[in-house]
Amino acid sequence: MKAAVLHEPGGIPRYEDFPDPVAGDGEVIIDVKAVAVENVDKAIAAGTHYASEKYTGRFPAIPAFDGIGALPDGTLVGFGNIRLPYGALAEKSVVPQGSYAPIPDGIDPAVASVMASAVTAMSMKTAAGFVPGETVLVQGATGVAGRLAVKVARLLGAGRVVATGRDDDRLRALGADTVINTAVSDEALAQAYLDARGDGYDVVVDYLWGRPSEIFLRALVPRSFAFGKPTRVVQIGESADAEIALAASSLRTSGVEIYGAAKGLDPQTMAEVYQQIVTWTRSGELTFDVEKVPLSDIETAWQRTDLKGRRLVVMP
Ligand SMILES: NC(=O)c1ccc[n+]([C@@H]2O[C@H](COP(=O)([O-])OP(=O)(O)OC[C@H]3O[C@@H](n4cnc5c(N)ncnc54)[C@H](OP(=O)(O)O)[C@@H]3O)[C@@H](O)[C@H]2O)c1
Repeated sequence: MKAAVLHEPGGIPRYEDFPDPVAGDGEVIIDVKAVAVENVDKAIAAGTHYASEKYTGRFPAIPAFDGIGALPDGTLVGFGNIRLPYGALAEKSVVPQGSYAPIPDGIDPAVASVMASAVTAMSMKTAAGFVPGETVLVQGATGVAGRLAVKVARLLGAGRVVATGRDDDRLRALGADTVINTAVSDEALAQAYLDARGDGYDVVVDYLWGRPSEIFLRALVPRSFAFGKPTRVVQIGESADAEIALAASSLRTSGVEIYGAAKGLDPQTMAEVYQQIVTWTRSGELTFDVEKVPLSDIETAWQRTDLKGRRLVVMP
């Protein structure tokens, strides 16, 4: 079969022949249809992610740990838990029986491969307990996941949506109530967060961490003895940096609460969240910006930096 083959950490996967996977006891061969290439796949392939050792600890390896494909009987499924080295970026992969879930009728495989990014946005409800009317700040709103989070906040009934990014034109196109360009001085950014807060941020969906989140959390510290309004921050991504410095006073005084995106998730909640995303997708209320490329273009596609909020989806 043809596959995207990685030969060393940090390398570029190449379009090459690779031995077909053979199903062992309790395994199923997947005919791969669509694979979203995300930052996490690149970090794993680069050897810089905590899961790098598991997924690409031995070479050659095929990157990407999940995707959309067909079972031998033709059923379209989202699959994961691949058997190494058979990652998803190939014509075929192999997974344990049951390591997949059917894709609902009427959902394009490429769109299905991106729906997990919309699921993360639902953590504003599942992790932070968002209720309609609240003010939501989306950190990293010009990215794929952040753009979806702006839409999800609207669909959930946010009172105000504040969106951050680094490009004024793309920020304006988001349809947020207020936008903040984070590519300014620390002082200007802190002031922008304060100016845009209205009567306070209720929920923050954070795809950035790093400098913008550090400045934001510092800006919430009151300037006098006062009770800070509770602000529930959901940590989802780290596009700006994996680390922040967090002053004790930020937690002590500002009313901020910080959760991981996985808080509140169990199989039933996950199924409900997924169903909600499917419903909005089918009705056209939630749309996904994908750029489909053939597997044969993987070398060029892997190095693309011009996607500007569109998700690269490889169609083997
Ligand atoms: N947990 C999950 O299931 C899950 C799912 C999806 C995403 N994520 C994580 O969420 C994050 C965003 O993912 P994505 O797919 O939306 O990525 P993306 O499309 O590449 O978007 C990245 C966003 O971060 C901004 N950004 C990048 N570097 C920055 C920096 N140094 N300073 C400030 N802003 C910066 C980008 O601004 P510009 O537009 O100006 O470049 C953009 O808004 C990643 O860490 C990803 O791993 C997690």
